Amino acid sequence: MTLDGDTVEAYDKEALVKRNPHVDFPAVEASRPDYDGLRSWIPSKTPNPKWQPGDGASRSGWEQHRMIAIDPDSHDRTVNQNYKLMISSTVPRPIALVSTVSADGLCRNLAPFSYFNNVSNDPPLYSLAFHGAEANDSLRNLLETGECCISIVSDWFLEAANFTSVNSPPKISEWELSGLHPKASDIVKVSYVGEAAVSMECQLHSTQTIWSKTVVDDDGKPIRTATLVLVEAVMFHVREDAIDEKRETVDTKVLRPVWRGGGIMYGTCFDGWETPRPDAFRVLRGTQRVLEILATSSHVSNGVKDTNDYQEIE
Ligand SMILES: Cc1cc2nc3c(=O)[nH]c(=O)nc-3n(C[C@H](O)[C@H](O)[C@H](O)COP(=O)(O)O)c2cc1C
Repeated sequence: MTLDGDTVEAYDKEALVKRNPHVDFPAVEASRPDYDGLRSWIPSKTPNPKWQPGDGASRSGWEQHRMIAIDPDSHDRTVNQNYKLMISSTVPRPIALVSTVSADGLCRNLAPFSYFNNVSNDPPLYSLAFHGAEANDSLRNLLETGECCISIVSDWFLEAANFTSVNSPPKISEWELSGLHPKASDIVKVSYVGEAAVSMECQLHSTQTIWSKTVVDDDGKPIRTATLVLVEAVMFHVREDAIDEKRETVDTKVLRPVWRGGGIMYGTCFDGWETPRPDAFRVLRGTQRVLEILATSSHVSNGVKDTNDYQEIE
């Protein structure tokens, strides 16, 4: 099918990957309760407030199960199986709604990416991983212009954000298709998502090409399967009601972030708690509990006689 000479969809990725596990999704969806948009962030206590050093897991049951070893390189295993295992187990993943513009400034692109995270604070770097042997529109624009915006996906525009993953030709903008509104940036030429509570204007920092272990091209060389890109935030935009007075901490209650899981699964973050980091080890090693652990631990019999010999790592 063509539109103005462009291929509308090179191939139906979804049919190949089979992310949707349901034969009749509309029927499954109809059987489920409505989304509770009034539900809000309510912090509970940490799962086990009585936890002490050495206690390990606070709930039993884990020890009753046999572990299955899965070799990702096994001859009877596919890349798609590894993909499904990875996206359903590295959960929850934050979602970056990435906006880019083509080098000639004519094509505006918007797409979601969940192989996304923070990398460093100085400079403030984010990672994005773009998959496929060919660069998708977002990656091509980002490499050509050195710019993108990242908007964090919240529950009030999840469906629109998901829709921007439509495999449309470069000249057809996902902005209009999704109904999301571009907001002009201060530094970069790309707009960020007006609906988002948190967005970052970013500039390209560095890239790393990832080569296939299973597929080679006609010359016998491994094909590209992904490009890891680091981008530097050069301006943050945070909704006034979402940030504290010091402009440090974003309120989860306001952000209502959506995470991506396996298959076609998404989720919210309404249940949470605060669990303090351990005290400094120099403090801990004076406590009865830690002294007892150290007295019986194999580390002690492995040559460390005195608990003062433990290196400070904080
Ligand atoms: C929630 C979500 C997360 C996604 N994460 C990624 C990702 O991390 N990397 C990737 O290459 N594609 C990812 N995709 C698929 C891209 O969004 C999709 O291929 C999109 O069409 C790329 O757009 P573009 O060609 O306009 O750049 C994701 C899709 C969804 C819906």
